[in-house]
Amino acid sequence: MKRVQLTTVQSAGTSDNLVVLADKDKLDALDAHLAPHESAFLRRAATLDVSNFFFPRAESVVFVRLFKPDRDAAVAREEVRLAGNDLLREVRQYKLDSVTIRNLCQQDFSLSFAEGMALGSYQFLKYFSKPSKKEKILREIRLENTAIPDADIRETNTVLEAVFLARDLVNEPHSHLNAVHLAEAVVAAGETFGFSVDVLGKEKIEALKMGGLLAVNQASTVPPQFCVLEWKPEGARNTKPIVLVGKGVVYDTGGLSLKPSDGMAYMKCDMAGAAAVVGTLAAAAKTGMPLHLIGLIPATDNKIGERALSPGDVITMGSGTTVEVVNTDAEGRLILADALHFAQKYDPELVLDLATLTGSAVKALGTQVICYMGTAPEHVKKQLENSGFATYERLVELPLWKEFGDDLKSNIADLKNLGSSNAGMITAGKFLEHFTKFPWLHLDIAGPAYLRAANGYRTKEGTGVGVRLLFDFLKKHATI
Ligand code: BES
Ligand code: ZN
Ligand code: ZN
Repeated sequence: MKRVQLTTVQSAGTSDNLVVLADKDKLDALDAHLAPHESAFLRRAATLDVSNFFFPRAESVVFVRLFKPDRDAAVAREEVRLAGNDLLREVRQYKLDSVTIRNLCQQDFSLSFAEGMALGSYQFLKYFSKPSKKEKILREIRLENTAIPDADIRETNTVLEAVFLARDLVNEPHSHLNAVHLAEAVVAAGETFGFSVDVLGKEKIEALKMGGLLAVNQASTVPPQFCVLEWKPEGARNTKPIVLVGKGVVYDTGGLSLKPSDGMAYMKCDMAGAAAVVGTLAAAAKTGMPLHLIGLIPATDNKIGERALSPGDVITMGSGTTVEVVNTDAEGRLILADALHFAQKYDPELVLDLATLTGSAVKALGTQVICYMGTAPEHVKKQLENSGFATYERLVELPLWKEFGDDLKSNIADLKNLGSSNAGMITAGKFLEHFTKFPWLHLDIAGPAYLRAANGYRTKEGTGVGVRLLFDFLKKHATI
């Protein structure tokens, strides 16, 4: 399926469908772009607080969207993205395959509007017998006479492509995406976007004694995979790499601590952390980001079967730490712990992990928020939070106070994999912290990674959350 592209054009032709973005308090600026009767109508309606207009013309249509000034730049930009997404309703109704944005507001609004439109236009149709019947075409969003540099528009196209890649990976059902398929998809993404990929199979994973990944995989008919992604440009600004770790549980039944069917139905999404890492590496490589990045993806399903890991078992992790597995549904931390320990060999500047790790993160903060915690310096946390607002993939920090770790004491091993029933997202973080000897941040994306119903331009099912956030964070980090 061909996906939408942002392009530029000097000036819209008479047959082009036009979207005019204007400030609510500068209506005069619109006069030059509208017929007198359109202007008159708009002024009357604007006093009634109408902000969306549609004027049919001989060969095309004109949409006008008015924006109230907002003191908070990030909030304003998000409103513009959402407005872009809103317009898709009309675009689809009238089967428009392209629109041209004429921007009378501040310069960056056209890009945000186009971004919201593009993100919202995503569809995942490959499993319909007649995909073309379902397809709602929007092929091109043109920015008219814009001062935005071409490089920025190319960059936005690449980030969009990377978000769509992450969404595609999450949306693939487990029937079509097991751990080996995921590793193959990572290799394919590396070839397309220009980063390198090394896939470690079961023997290497055994040689590395990754006891967490092997234990979770025990009942599977498909071997575990451990993907190592690398983007190492000449002239990278960092001497020590930044490592991104993504939870790659391609399907989480809960194991013998079986999930109820309601909770299990959506568990193809349990590799959304992995998808975000692939998407971020893809965008970084294709835009030539001057940072040395490593991506680590431990991949497996979490199944039941004769050989399944059983609650009460004790396993030895890659680091040598022993873990009493009290609950086999707390599997994400087991595979991430091995990946975090593996990250140590890179002597990393910073490690970020992304994981659909806990239901308690969803319960506590819903689908709008990424719960994060970690040991990275305050200024790094601030930078990440700022990127959260810039991309509206917002984060809230939770404490990693040592008292939370008391919950993880085991009678028979170094750690157990489950805390008490309270603050589950924090005890999960405490568990991971045990395997980190470097500045580290853990992002629990269980809430925003997968939506049962669309939320604005965050289309239903996989949202690709993390890609825009990390791309923004890393890009800014490269310039500091
Ligand atoms: N994959 C789940 C977490 C999850 C829940 C992701 C909802 C997306 C949406 C994870 O492996 C899990 O099962 N966590 C358990 C841990 C519990 C047994 C300690 C949870 O949070 O319920
Ligand atoms: Zn689980
Ligand atoms: Zn899981």
